[in-house]
Amino acid sequence: MKNIRNFCIIAHIDHGKSTLADRLLDFTGSVTEREKQEQLLDSMDLERERGITIKSHAIQMDYEYEGEQYILNLIDTPGHVDFSYEVSRSIAACEGALLIVDAAQSIQAQTISNLYLALENDLEIIPVLNKVDLPSANPEEVTDDIVDLLGCDPSEVIHASGKTGFGVENILQAIIERVPAPEGDPDAPLQALIFDSVYNTFRGVETYFRVFNGEIKKGQKIKFVATGKEYFADEVGTLKLNQVVKSSVKTGDVGYLITGIKTAKEVKVGDTITDFANPTTNIVEGFEDVKPMVFAGIYPVDTEDYEELRNSMEKLQLNDASLVFQPESSAALGFGFRCGFLGMLHMEIIQERLEREFDMTVITTVPNVSYHAYTNKNPDDAFIVNNPSDLPDPSTVNRVEEPYIKATIITKSDFVGNVMSLCIEKRGMITNQTYLTTERVELTFDMPLAEIVFDFYDRLKTVSKGYASFDYSPIGMRVSKLVRLDVLLNGQPVDALSALIHADNAHTIGKKMCEKLKELIPRQQFDIPIQAAIGAKIISRETVKALRKDVTAKCYGGDISRKRKLLEKQKKGKKRMRQVGNVEIPQQAFMAVLKLN
Ligand code: GTP
Repeated sequence: MKNIRNFCIIAHIDHGKSTLADRLLDFTGSVTEREKQEQLLDSMDLERERGITIKSHAIQMDYEYEGEQYILNLIDTPGHVDFSYEVSRSIAACEGALLIVDAAQSIQAQTISNLYLALENDLEIIPVLNKVDLPSANPEEVTDDIVDLLGCDPSEVIHASGKTGFGVENILQAIIERVPAPEGDPDAPLQALIFDSVYNTFRGVETYFRVFNGEIKKGQKIKFVATGKEYFADEVGTLKLNQVVKSSVKTGDVGYLITGIKTAKEVKVGDTITDFANPTTNIVEGFEDVKPMVFAGIYPVDTEDYEELRNSMEKLQLNDASLVFQPESSAALGFGFRCGFLGMLHMEIIQERLEREFDMTVITTVPNVSYHAYTNKNPDDAFIVNNPSDLPDPSTVNRVEEPYIKATIITKSDFVGNVMSLCIEKRGMITNQTYLTTERVELTFDMPLAEIVFDFYDRLKTVSKGYASFDYSPIGMRVSKLVRLDVLLNGQPVDALSALIHADNAHTIGKKMCEKLKELIPRQQFDIPIQAAIGAKIISRETVKALRKDVTAKCYGGDISRKRKLLEKQKKGKKRMRQVGNVEIPQQAFMAVLKLN
C-alpha cells in the first residue's frame, strides 16, 4: 500500500490533459509502440473526434523510483460541465491531483471549479504549467497566477510540455513524493467506491472502483449499498491498457469488477461496494442519483420508424445510464420520446449516436429545463413539467418555479461590461466580482438554467472575443414569471415549437421567433402565416410567401460533380423535414428559438 499513488488530472478544457496523460503512459512504458496512438485514453470514436474525454477511465502504470517499484493509478476525469458529477466521484477516488494550467491561457473557469472539487476532497494538488513550448507561453505571469490561486511556492509549480515531453519525469517524481500513499485497513470489511462504469456488449457492465478498506476477491458475494443489490464478483482485476485479471484487489488500489450486470442503470457512480455477509458501516459519502437537467423530444423523421427508435433508445440506455426517456406524443410530430439529458453536450452525443450506431434519422425538438408548476388547487405539490406543452392552464396555476444555477465566468477586464450586459439580459443577478489579477476578473451570477440552454455559450464567446471561460453548478428552484409561447403555422398550433419564456421577454422572443421561422421554412405553393401566441392572444405574425409560378429550377451549366454534390446535399437536407399539416418544417426550425440573435 505504501507504494501506491492514486491521482487524477484536472484542467480547464483544452489545457492539455489527455496529451499529458499520454506522455505519462509513454514515459512509464505503459504502452507498447503498437498501442501508441493519439489520445489513447479516449477510446470512443466520438470522443476522439470531439477531442473531449466524455467517459472517465482509469489506468495503472508501474514506475521505478529510487530503487523502489511504485504503482501509479491515473484516474481520468471528463472535462465537460455536463459530466461534473462523474468528475467529483473520480476525484473522491484519489489522494492527489495534477492541476494543469495552459501557459498561454492561464487559469480559467474549470481550472477553479475542478480545483475546488479537489480541495473539498482533501487532495494534494501538484500544479503543472503546461505547454511551455508554445511561443505565446507566458510562464512567469502564469506561474504567479497559480501561486496566487494556491498559495504555494513558485518552486512547486512544475514546468512541462505534453507536446515535447519536457518535465514529465519531474511530474512522476512529484506524484511519488508529494501525493500521500493510500490509508485504510486491509483487515476491515470491504469498502470500495464506484467511480465509473462502462458497458460491454459481451461481458455486461464493467464497474470501476477504488478500494478504501478490505479487499475484493474473485467469487466473493458482494452488495451495492445504494441500490441494495447483491452479486457475485465473477471477475476482478486491475486496469493496465488492457484488463489484468487478479484473484483480489486490495486496500488502496483501483480495479474493475464484472458481475454479469446487463444494464448500466444498475451500477450507480458514487455507490459503495461492500461484503454481503460482513458489510461495512463506512459509506463513501457524496452519493447522488444523477438527474437530467435538459429535456427534449426525439421523434423519428419517418413516423413508421417509431418502434425502431424505441429499440435503439433502449439499447443506448443499456450503456448510458444517464439517458432517460419516456414515450410522448405530439399533435404535430406524432409518436416519439421525451428524453432527459445531463446537458446540451450530452444531448448532442445521444443524437449523434442514434444516427451513427443505429442509423436513425431523428427530429429533436427545442430543449427545455424541468419546471415545477403549483396549481391553486394544490399549492404545495409540484407538478413536474418536462415539456412546455404540459404546463397546466395558466388560469389554474398558482406559481411556476425554474432551476437556477450559480454561473462563474472568468474574463479579461476589458470585457467585464459586455459580459455583465449579456448576463443581465439572460436574467442573471451578479453576486460577486473579484479581480484575480489586474487584467483578469472572476464574475459570479445567479441565473436561470434555461438561459444557458438558450445560446449562452455562443453569445459569451462573441461578446468576449473568445476571452471568457464559463462554468456552473445548480443552486435549486426559484419562482419565475413564466408564460408559454405557442407558435401557429397556417393557423395550426405546432406543439413541438412551444417554449416557456419569461413574461417580460415573451413579446420580443415571439417576434424574433416568427422572423426566424420565416427564414427557415421553405416557400411552398401557398402563403404560410406564422404566428406567435400567448394563450389566445396573437403577439406577432409573419408570412412565408407562396412561390411564384414562373420560378422554376435554375438550370445552369458548369461542373457536373459540383451539381451532383449540391443535389446530394439537398437530398440529405430533405430527409430532416417533417410534414405538419400541409407545411414542411425543417429540423432547424425546431431549434429556431435557440438561435434568435
Ligand atoms: P479535453 O480532453 O478536451 O478536456 O482537452 P485536454 O485538456 O485533454 O486537451 P488535449 O490534450 O486534447 O490538448 C488540447 C490541444 O492542445 C491539442 O490540440 C493538443 O495537441 C494541444 N497541446 C496539448 N499539450 C500541448 C503542449 O504541451 N504544447 C503544445 N504546443 N500544444 C499542446
